[in-house]
Amino acid sequence: MSEVNALRTPLCDLLGCRYPIVQTAMGYVAGADLVIGTTNAGGFGFLAGATIHADKIEAEILRVKRETDDQPFGLNFHMFQPNAQQLLDLAVKYRLRAVSYGRGPDKKVIGRLRDADIVCMPTVGALKHAQKAIEMGANAITVQGGEGGGHTGSVPTTVLLPQVVDAVSVPVIAAGGFYDGRGLLAALAFGASGIAMGTRFLMTSDSKVPDATLQRYLATKDAEKIAVSHLVDGMPQRMIPNEYLSMLEKASPMKRLRIAVNLALKWKAETGMTTGQAMSIFMKAMREDSSSVAQTVMAANAPMLLQRSMVDGNPADGVMSAGQVAALIGKLDSCEDVISGIVRQAMVRRTALNELTPA
Ligand SMILES: Cc1cc2nc3c(=O)[nH]c(=O)nc-3n(C[C@H](O)[C@H](O)[C@H](O)COP(=O)(O)O)c2cc1C
Repeated sequence: MSEVNALRTPLCDLLGCRYPIVQTAMGYVAGADLVIGTTNAGGFGFLAGATIHADKIEAEILRVKRETDDQPFGLNFHMFQPNAQQLLDLAVKYRLRAVSYGRGPDKKVIGRLRDADIVCMPTVGALKHAQKAIEMGANAITVQGGEGGGHTGSVPTTVLLPQVVDAVSVPVIAAGGFYDGRGLLAALAFGASGIAMGTRFLMTSDSKVPDATLQRYLATKDAEKIAVSHLVDGMPQRMIPNEYLSMLEKASPMKRLRIAVNLALKWKAETGMTTGQAMSIFMKAMREDSSSVAQTVMAANAPMLLQRSMVDGNPADGVMSAGQVAALIGKLDSCEDVISGIVRQAMVRRTALNELTPA
């Protein structure tokens, strides 16, 4: 594409990608196939390391390296996962270009990553979290506005983005509600260095999400219905409504707690966590967050329920995290088509703006 350099931003140099377009980590969705599709199309992809089994993660990293001709990509992790240390070691061992995370890593961990020349790029949903993340050592920040998919804050992208851009001096990547070239150009106009998208990449032909689940996404045409609920794990999460959410809405608090405990036990078994590890994670979560015991137990719900939709192909019984932008996406294009289409449209819009004549 001849417009390559026209949209080059400092983010492209920092991450080593052609276009300032990032595919975010999505639990059970952002596996090697999606990262390979994104990377080979000129974007920058993150492997969802928090939900890839410890026995498989190294092989997934190697597959991405092999099938992208060793182009740069990133790894997502969170400090609460039992194999967090393994992921940090792998990121350093394979000199991955970037890591992404939410809350968690301390200055020492971030220092080790930065010393290995790894870009530390957390996702935040509020200005104070952006400032804190930079204080801890982050050298790029993804800001996710409230319209974004999965766990999300309440401030919309158009309010959060300028707030953070004005307050920090590292590259800012805008997330939440992006899917086309108009969005990319608007984000750059706000002062962002690029855009990051979850839902748009989930809804591609490179995504390994089972068809039964993808069809539910495609059938959702009303953005208003892709709403936020606290019922899954006690934290605000934006999702497509389904039978499971209706059940939770009608369930008594006691029944919800019973469901949460059962799912937490399954999650513990699945991750191979020892009771000691589970207790230590539980205690850490309790110390860091003043929410109730029930909510802390419920934190295991999100990964278990996401898996039902994204791996088992059972969308009625799981969680379908989605940004409101899902309502605007009508078909499953390849990552290549999505990225080249976004770049092309951004260029067209930019030319049109440049041609506006003064009154
Ligand atoms: C299905 C799904 C799963 C997600 N899982 C995670 C996750 O495991 N970790 C994370 O940091 N963000 C997660 N997110 C949030 C995305 O990384 C991203 O920030 C968000 O999707 C951006 O908004 P958009 O959907 O409007 O593009 C998830 C989002 C979706 C849609």
